Amino acid sequence: MAIVRALDPVALQADFPIFEREFRGRRLAYLDSAATSLKPRVVTEAVAGYLNNYSANVHRGIYQIGEEATAAYEAARTKIAKFIGAKDAREIVMVRNATEAINLVAYSWGRKNINKADTIVTTEMEHHSNIVPWQLLAQEKDADLEFVSFDEDGTLNQDSYDVLLRTKPKLVTFVAVSNGMGTINPVADMVRRAHEAGALVLVDGAQAVPHQPVNVQELDCDFFVFSGHKSLGPPGSGALWARREILEAMPPFMGGGEMIREVHLRHTTFNDVPYKFEAGTPDISAAIGLGAALDYLSDLGMDHVRAHERELVEYALKVLPERVKTIRIHGPKSGSNRAGVITFNLADAHPHDVATLLDREAIAVRAGHHCTMPLHQRLGEEASARASFYVYTSHDDIDRLAEALIKVERLFARN
Ligand code: ALA
Repeated sequence: MAIVRALDPVALQADFPIFEREFRGRRLAYLDSAATSLKPRVVTEAVAGYLNNYSANVHRGIYQIGEEATAAYEAARTKIAKFIGAKDAREIVMVRNATEAINLVAYSWGRKNINKADTIVTTEMEHHSNIVPWQLLAQEKDADLEFVSFDEDGTLNQDSYDVLLRTKPKLVTFVAVSNGMGTINPVADMVRRAHEAGALVLVDGAQAVPHQPVNVQELDCDFFVFSGHKSLGPPGSGALWARREILEAMPPFMGGGEMIREVHLRHTTFNDVPYKFEAGTPDISAAIGLGAALDYLSDLGMDHVRAHERELVEYALKVLPERVKTIRIHGPKSGSNRAGVITFNLADAHPHDVATLLDREAIAVRAGHHCTMPLHQRLGEEASARASFYVYTSHDDIDRLAEALIKVERLFARN
């Protein structure tokens, strides 16, 4: 099936002020969007608009700019709900990032519902933020933490998943799209099987929401988390979505202002969801910026974003091994189940050297373990280099990457 590329990344670059800068006399080839995305002007203007023109606190001031700030902040919540297909904006808890959202669930839902000898299932391809909070909870509760393995092709081993589901876990959690290998997991199918086994399911959508259409009702999961800063939004923005009845039954996470209904010296009653989970002044400007980012992505169309990245990843999977003789690319071999992430090693150059030399060509890639040490242990690599794509990434960026990697290979070639 032919893939229609409806996005023009070179035209879109005009929306991103960073491309007006020169780096070593060249336009930046920014290939680290899995770490964080660049920000379009509409986002920086929305943030500056709040800070310059109506920078009051939310849900407090009974005066014009207080009401404007509250309206813009709540409009952002509604945009997030719509963007991920939530039924009700009251199911959206505003958080700083996906990590905070997972910790919120582990602390609040987890401490109430996970008991001694209960099982939590996660996977070997998770970001540290979807491993460590569950380790802390399992240690505190004397619960079991089990891991679905992944195969040579970077896909989760579904037999190992079925074996673990037979232990009747209380919670199953996995990443929708791997930041380490780009693997797109079969989320809806895995959720259905987890529910049949009696588990609730938390989906880490940090690398999914920016890059493909997401609908939490269609996925039918119970918790869903993502960060705004990877989705063209500012750092400090993100969301936890959970079914309303689950949020209602969860105890508060942090105590403070806004999350209360009444405070007495010896006891407190709590606000309705989602405010029960939003103690203190939130990052108002970041939330408003995320709302602008989601408007921008909606205008592009998430089907088009995915089609563009799929075409880029297929191009990279073809041309990099053809031109860069010693490259080892990890993860799925096809763009059909791979997002715009190419994680690789060169035979004779350490990933840190690769990234440093690419930087001299104004190409930004990430080197290291990408917050996925267990994934790298499974790959048998101490570290890797990673090129990741987004709406402003062009074929030219991938060609520049290939040419620069050939130079790195020559430099490090063993005689
Ligand atoms: N999770 C981010 C990454 O993959 C930081 O680079």
